[in-house]
Amino acid sequence: MTGQPKIKERAVFATKFAAVATTVGSAVGLGNIWRFPYEAGVHGGGAFMICYVVFVFLIGIPVLWAEFMMGRSTRSNIFGAYDKLRGGWLGRVAGIIGILSSLLILSFYSVVAGWTIEYLFSSLLGWLNFTDIGAGHDQFVELTSGWRPVLWTVIFLFCNTFILFRGVTKGIERASNILMPLLFLLLILFCCNAFTMPGFGEGIRYLFKPDFGQLTPSVLLSAMGQAFFSLSLGLGCMMTYASYFSERTGLMRTAVTTAFLDSLVAVLAGVIIFPAVFSFGLSPEAGPTLVFEVLPHVFSQLPGGQCWSTLFFLLLFLASLTSTVSMSEISIAYFCEEQHMGRRRATLVSSAIALVGGLLCALSFGPLSDLTIAGMTIFELFDYFTSNIALPVGGMIVSIFVGWMLNRPASVDRLAVKSFHMSLMMTCLRWVCPGAILLILLNSIGLL
Ligand code: PHE
Repeated sequence: MTGQPKIKERAVFATKFAAVATTVGSAVGLGNIWRFPYEAGVHGGGAFMICYVVFVFLIGIPVLWAEFMMGRSTRSNIFGAYDKLRGGWLGRVAGIIGILSSLLILSFYSVVAGWTIEYLFSSLLGWLNFTDIGAGHDQFVELTSGWRPVLWTVIFLFCNTFILFRGVTKGIERASNILMPLLFLLLILFCCNAFTMPGFGEGIRYLFKPDFGQLTPSVLLSAMGQAFFSLSLGLGCMMTYASYFSERTGLMRTAVTTAFLDSLVAVLAGVIIFPAVFSFGLSPEAGPTLVFEVLPHVFSQLPGGQCWSTLFFLLLFLASLTSTVSMSEISIAYFCEEQHMGRRRATLVSSAIALVGGLLCALSFGPLSDLTIAGMTIFELFDYFTSNIALPVGGMIVSIFVGWMLNRPASVDRLAVKSFHMSLMMTCLRWVCPGAILLILLNSIGLL
């Protein structure tokens, strides 16, 4: 694939494996390793975990399948896909939500990815403190306050833009094929290490034992938001990727595999983080900084901690890149195909927008920390608004559209699924997904 702008030149991922590897590459990223543990920590552990898993299977897989189907059958960006399927104004709303959210997510995501580069270099140069157990928080503050994160955010966005300039296949496919399995192995190794920690039992209980007394509307909303964010759903990202799938790619199988592997990585991250949190007497409720404060402690337990830490942050940085490349692809495909820009120009435009947003988010941990809207900093606001509201609304539109407004999806994409899967998916898309999303959104604003 050469990543050229026009539809007739659109290329196709070479193999079935490449299709799975790239969708998993998009799904697995900071959402699993940074966001999942911090959201689970803030929302009471087990209760959040149960809801998250239920949402992945009940809402995530059907919406993923629907996005795949719309993308492959139209071979278009989100606007073009709805347009070709006669989505009318609803499609335009979904398109605007998708493009806007992708740019907002790219903004705050680049800041966190910038922290991973900061930690990568600090590990490499031996600056991360692996001996003083109390130092994690102070070190995080030292490394990420002031203007420094701005520099790392810019560097990260530069790397992202560079990969996008080189075209879709070369950059994304090769990187994800090799790196995702390696990251996975490293996580398993760290999980084994978690077994040896004194707080293992407490950490595991915290993560897996639901306390249903904690099941508040905000836990439900956050767990649903996490499922959407982690699966890159609701903003047309998977739709855009599926537009590069070949006819032979099994949509159902790819959806289930992606959801399964994505959740597995999130759970592994939880199994690494929470035993360490309890072993070192830290608070699970630290929020977005949790993982960065806890991980140095985890590495301090391992012989050769500095090497593990360097390798881990390197892989996390690359996993973030495969995700940001996918979210950038949403607006780039739109600018190319709907606004008739060249690919390079489209890439520069979306990077420039993300740069402005990224700077605001990076500064909200330092000079702009007092600037709050509804009690949230700009960083928190972008994160909350996109994950908990925009993506679920985008997902609701996809499910209503495919469930009710497309007459026979099978005729749109004959190779989509076998008929049993089809009717199961359609039931979910008609009733379960829109119903659950609507109830949770209304519940969280107190209307139910
Ligand atoms: N799913 C990615 C992650 O977990 C984030 C993402 C969100 C990517 C939306 C693309 C679109 O890190």
